[in-house]
Amino acid sequence: MKSLLYLLVLVIAIVSCQKEDVAKDIVYPVLMEIPQGFPNIIQPKDNEYNQDRWLLGKRLFYDKVMSKDSSLSCASCHNSAMAFSDDLNFSAGTSGNFTTMNAPTLTNVAYQPYYTSAGGVATLEMHVLVPIQEHVEFDFNILLIADRMRSDATYVSMAQKAYGRIPDPFVITRALACFERSLISGNSDYDKYYFQSDPNALSKEAKKGMDLFFSNRTNCSDCHGGFNFTNYTFENNGLYQEYENVGRYKLTGNDDDIALFKVPTLRNIAYTGPYMHDGSLNTLEDVLNHYNSGGKDHLHKSELIRPLGLSTQEKNELKAFLVSLSDHTFITNPIFKSL
Ligand code: HEC
Ligand code: HEC
Repeated sequence: MKSLLYLLVLVIAIVSCQKEDVAKDIVYPVLMEIPQGFPNIIQPKDNEYNQDRWLLGKRLFYDKVMSKDSSLSCASCHNSAMAFSDDLNFSAGTSGNFTTMNAPTLTNVAYQPYYTSAGGVATLEMHVLVPIQEHVEFDFNILLIADRMRSDATYVSMAQKAYGRIPDPFVITRALACFERSLISGNSDYDKYYFQSDPNALSKEAKKGMDLFFSNRTNCSDCHGGFNFTNYTFENNGLYQEYENVGRYKLTGNDDDIALFKVPTLRNIAYTGPYMHDGSLNTLEDVLNHYNSGGKDHLHKSELIRPLGLSTQEKNELKAFLVSLSDHTFITNPIFKSL
């Protein structure tokens, strides 16, 4: 009888212990869940999502070990509370240097066909090398980051678990890309209205703004169309008559590409100001005044950018719609925050 009791206690102990382990894990399966109405994400064969890879990528994303002088992490410029952007026009890099571009949001970055505003980088894995080497970002070398990680027992065991090898460039680029791919946002008021069929999720004002956004009156959706509010093309939206930044030309050297920039997503736009490649427009009002004016004349300005004649009320409606593209659950999700 006594031994039976012992057995029972043992069984209960094991079961409750297992329960605790499962409980610790339940937050993770929601990762990589594709929101209603969104297309699937194509994952590279050698880097399919799993929790060990993701945990390693997240640790690296928040670790200053990545920068030469150990002063910066990816999160220094891509802050979760700002939908993984920052609130500066240019971001502070190592050694007091500043970036020459505004740090973009990483919202739904997995869906992009190419990376950076000039579009020169094909995959998220390859892109990891860009901030590491950029002098105004980490100003470092991926082999030296791997060396630093190898002297850290936690990193060594995490890399073994995730990829079956010790920290090296393969592990660093794959793990960070795995984390970035999970930054999926599809729970804005607009998503609730449009994809989740909740007719009350948008205010009357935002619905009028939506009609304007998708109309020939504004042409906004010609460039910012699709579920991610970008068609990923390169356009000139008439910000300047003369640009300091030559845009896509930097990559192609083709005159036709001077001052063209990748059309950015408008998801989480309420959290990602200041706006445009150089952060020169501070507020959504400034952005709408810019488009309403028709922009400055540049040889490459798109024909779609022209004076719109919007009233103050119409601008307010458009602003209400843009704000409705912002997903509060994404920027407050504890899963994405540093430990
Ligand atoms: C000092 C600030 C800074 C740091 C640190 C930084 N970034 Fe960025 N990031 C930027 C800026 C600025 C751009 C825009 C560059 C461009 O478009 O040419 C950018 C662009 C990107 C893009 C391309 C997004 C797009 O829409 O094409 C990705 C992805 C990205 N960063 C991920 C990372 C990761 C991962 C790290 C850490 C390994 C990191 N960044 C570190 C400032 C930073
Ligand atoms: C011809 C294509 C085109 C049209 C039409 C267009 N945009 Fe844009 N939009 C762009 C490009 C390109 C950029 C980025 C420019 C840059 O980085 O300097 C941009 C940037 C923006 C940004 C800033 C995004 C950020 O993260 O910095 C907002 C907001 C925006 N557009 C809203 C609108 C609205 C609202 C309309 C309609 C009134 C509109 N756009 C029409 C191409 C277009």
